[in-house]
Amino acid sequence: MIESCSISQDSDVVKARQAGRRLAEQLGFSRTDQALIATAISELARNIVNYADSGVIQFEVTHSGRREGIQVCARDKGPGIPDVELAMTDGYSTGKSLGLGLPGTRRIVDEFRIASEPGKGVTVTFVKWKPK
Ligand SMILES: Nc1ncnc2c1ncn2[C@@H]1O[C@H](COP(=O)(O)OP(=O)(O)OP(=O)(O)O)[C@@H](O)[C@H]1O
Ligand SMILES: [Mg+2]
Repeated sequence: MIESCSISQDSDVVKARQAGRRLAEQLGFSRTDQALIATAISELARNIVNYADSGVIQFEVTHSGRREGIQVCARDKGPGIPDVELAMTDGYSTGKSLGLGLPGTRRIVDEFRIASEPGKGVTVTFVKWKPK
């Protein structure tokens, strides 16, 4: 099952956040984990609106052995990030913001991948596993 949210404006950030939180709740994540997952989703959605104009966020249930988790993929075809390592540094922002969105998101999830090529957009994928 894959759920998809198109992201192009502020209200979509809220919708994606709520959809992710709902799925996390259905999967039986704790309220704390639901909040962390919702936060991670809104950071990625916010970046799409701020830096790429539009994109898509997809949620799905994922398994590894007997473990169950939520996988979230945020994708856009915006300008991309020229130096991904730099963008993952605390405090780096081209938008006069805190520059904590991406590094903070990495810290609150279990698996985190970011891929970007200038001119070809950004794809961020994360997984959060349910505790055993
Ligand atoms: N989807 C994206 N497309 C293009 N550039 C991006 C994208 N997401 C992030 N970036 C770049 O990476 C930088 C770091 O992103 P990050 O989310 O960590 O910080 P921020 O958005 O600047 O500030 P904060 O999230 O703390 O409000 C951004 O300033 C921007 O330059
Ligand atoms: Mg951000």
